[in-house]
Amino acid sequence: MRKKIVAGNWKMNNDLEASISLTKKIIKSVKKKQLSKVKVIIAPPFVNLERVAKKARKSKIQVAAQNMHFEKSGAFTGEVSAEMLKGVNVKTVILGHSERREYFGETDEILAKKVDAALENKMKVIFCFGEVLEERKAEKHFDVVKSQIEKALFHLEPKQWKKIVLAYEPVWAIGTGETASPEQAQEIHKFVRGFIAEKYGEEVAENVSILYGGSVKPANAEAIFSQEDVDGGLIGGAALNAKDFKAIIDAI
Ligand code: PGA
Repeated sequence: MRKKIVAGNWKMNNDLEASISLTKKIIKSVKKKQLSKVKVIIAPPFVNLERVAKKARKSKIQVAAQNMHFEKSGAFTGEVSAEMLKGVNVKTVILGHSERREYFGETDEILAKKVDAALENKMKVIFCFGEVLEERKAEKHFDVVKSQIEKALFHLEPKQWKKIVLAYEPVWAIGTGETASPEQAQEIHKFVRGFIAEKYGEEVAENVSILYGGSVKPANAEAIFSQEDVDGGLIGGAALNAKDFKAIIDAI
């Protein structure tokens, strides 16, 4: 059975006080029993990771980083390594978010190295992919997502896929209020699972959780999550509000 996952990507929001306060609210509202059915992950900014991870330690809520560098250490001003994340008890990392690709020049090749560094450190990866509007309009979205996944992940061994969660995030739906329809999400998720099966076989494909991200809100979460190949969501804006985030978790 695939894991159901709801992950909140806080992006560059919430100072320390706000991060702790939101973490407390989420821990309080999500019951332990619910956490045995759905995995809940929160991803605060780097500087707040240690404190949030400490706060969340006794709950079953997991904490993820939003990015990391692929090198262990060295002259990489402003960067943070997998080793450093592990050192503060962070064992999951979001990689390949479209904002990292667009504003920070992350390429498929860089992402492949980041994925390797995370897996070498026994971390889990939430790997984001998705097309921009022009690519969808030109009906290139299938080719684009296939190429993003192949280039960053198809060098992995089948057993390494146990550590991978995928997140389909059509760029035109991120922070825009415009969501992919449940059918559009299902179409891509099914397609992705299909070409993973071609390369790695049914077992790997059936076990990989594929999340949808892009303007998920309490009002649309249920319809999206009810699709067969949608195993949860990567939530941006709505994850900054404990009530909305909880409602999205409930929708699963
Ligand atoms: P959004 O962001 O929910 O605010 O659209 C999703 C994401 O970027 O992960």
